[in-house]
Amino acid sequence: MITLVAAYGNNREFGFGNDLPWGRSLPADLAHFKKVTTGRTLVMGRKTFQSLPRVLPDRQHIVVTSGEPLILHPRVQWAISLKQALQLAGDNACVIGGVQMFSELLANKVADELIITHVHGEFDADKFFPVFNENEYEKNQIGHINKDEHNAYACTLYRYMLKR
Ligand SMILES: NC(=O)c1ccc[n+]([C@@H]2O[C@H](COP(=O)([O-])OP(=O)(O)OC[C@H]3O[C@@H](n4cnc5c(N)ncnc54)[C@H](OP(=O)(O)O)[C@@H]3O)[C@@H](O)[C@H]2O)c1
Repeated sequence: MITLVAAYGNNREFGFGNDLPWGRSLPADLAHFKKVTTGRTLVMGRKTFQSLPRVLPDRQHIVVTSGEPLILHPRVQWAISLKQALQLAGDNACVIGGVQMFSELLANKVADELIITHVHGEFDADKFFPVFNENEYEKNQIGHINKDEHNAYACTLYRYMLKR
């Protein structure tokens, strides 16, 4: 199964200054991301890789770049295209960004499921999640995060399954 995992705000705000638009203010969504991705092979663009705090534990990483590998690490592989990355990942790929990867996946209906966090807020952003045809997917709410002293915004968690 190929899974796309993303979080975005009311206006599809997805990234800002090579960080998340809401920074580190949503630990409950990071916990959700960890739960969804642990044991999977993460496929990502080079900038998303550089935005991670570290190589993530218990997950393989495949990073797409047109350039040279940035680091050598036992859990990090490098690919020259999304297609090559998905071939390397096999049936366990979780694509986590960025925008170009998502556009390609959604346009070609390659992802079997989308795990989306809707962050209920408006943010400064320089990257926006692509508009896609929601009618191609069956949408279910799978959770909710309340705004509280630890989480600066309420969130709704969705799972979209591609209709075959
Ligand atoms: N909200 C979320 O869920 C979420 C998740 C992940 C990331 N983000 C945010 O998104 C931003 C990063 O995403 P981004 O869209 O700016 O960049 P990105 O897609 O992560 O990285 C772009 C780079 O990836 C490589 N690349 C992408 N597509 C390629 C292709 N088809 N062939 C070859 N190389 C390719 C290129 O690397 P080279 O330049 O090295 O060739 C390109 O410059 C950050 O702000 C990050 O915090 C948000």
